[in-house]
Amino acid sequence: MAKRMLVLGVESSCDETAVALYDADRGLIDHDIYSQLDLHTVFGGVVPELAARDHARKCAPMIEALLGRNHIKYIDLDGISYTSGPGLAGALLSGACLAAALSDRLGIPSIGVHHLEGHLMAVHLEPNPPAYPFLALLVSGGHTQLVAVRAFGEYETLGTTVDDAVGEAFDKTAQLLGLPYPGGPQLEALAAKVKQSAYAFPRPMVDRPGLDFSFSGLKTHVANVLRRHGSMTLEEKAEVAHAFQEAVFDTLVIKCRRAFEQTHIERLVIGGGVGANQVLRRKMQDLASRLDVGIHYPSAIFCTDNAAMIAYVGCQRLLHGAISSTIRIHPRMPLDDLEP
Ligand code: KG4
Ligand code: ZN
Repeated sequence: MAKRMLVLGVESSCDETAVALYDADRGLIDHDIYSQLDLHTVFGGVVPELAARDHARKCAPMIEALLGRNHIKYIDLDGISYTSGPGLAGALLSGACLAAALSDRLGIPSIGVHHLEGHLMAVHLEPNPPAYPFLALLVSGGHTQLVAVRAFGEYETLGTTVDDAVGEAFDKTAQLLGLPYPGGPQLEALAAKVKQSAYAFPRPMVDRPGLDFSFSGLKTHVANVLRRHGSMTLEEKAEVAHAFQEAVFDTLVIKCRRAFEQTHIERLVIGGGVGANQVLRRKMQDLASRLDVGIHYPSAIFCTDNAAMIAYVGCQRLLHGAISSTIRIHPRMPLDDLEP
């Protein structure tokens, strides 16, 4: 008989407090995400100290509510997983301390999970997840990485951003266009107002070999266009947004194609917040058809930060024999250092 494993997952690396219950047999039981957006919007970005305090306030009541509405008691839990990094130190600590306290009280293991491993594995929350190996494009607010996923726990970073992450470039460009934070989805909506653009922005780093990315130059390019042009109509702004989005995504497509040629892997997974973007999904779908490789993405809710992916990874690690760790957070933490 398979080992019983019911895991509570806690995610608190940035500005979402999230909790989830994942069962090895039944899959995801339930999850909840609370966004601190209203708290940070007036500042135009996440304020780390406010984020940490809010996680500390919200997390325990969210766990209570999650267990309560699923008629699960604390003693039914077999383990707790929490995001141990990368992320904001104070925010990570509030989740880690709560997980450690619960684990101590209940006498069950608590497992620190790498946030990006969560994003890599979020696709396993969906029906028909991909077989290994797969190539993962992780595009979030803090990270842009191309990763060869050989097996659970075996990750090789093939390329990364040398400056801004894709989501960060979207957020900063959206701000230049006068859109509210976080700008990614707003920029996508603005760009969708036009079918094409009079602007043609450069595709950064595509003429150089390798799989690294750079997006800060593109954002500066937009700033220069806006400065030269002066005030713009909504339609003109939409054309700038459209050209920016095309340039970013064409670059991602070119690098993904290169990674496939290099690795001969036959499946692509898109993860991270920007993976919710429909234009990116369409472009990657086209690439996958042209290369005849499979493509998988988590549903939009599991592309952005969530605890379901943390509970899933914690559950797998416990099934693989991981033992409880002392409270550990790693605000910076390379994915390639993980062990299977
Ligand atoms: O994965 P995530 O929720 O948090 C991090 O780990 O960073 O990603 C958030 C990022 C933000 O930069 C947000 O603007 C971007 O993902 N994002 C999008 C879209 N939805 C979220 N960017 C472009 N288009 C979208 N539809
Ligand atoms: Zn994330």
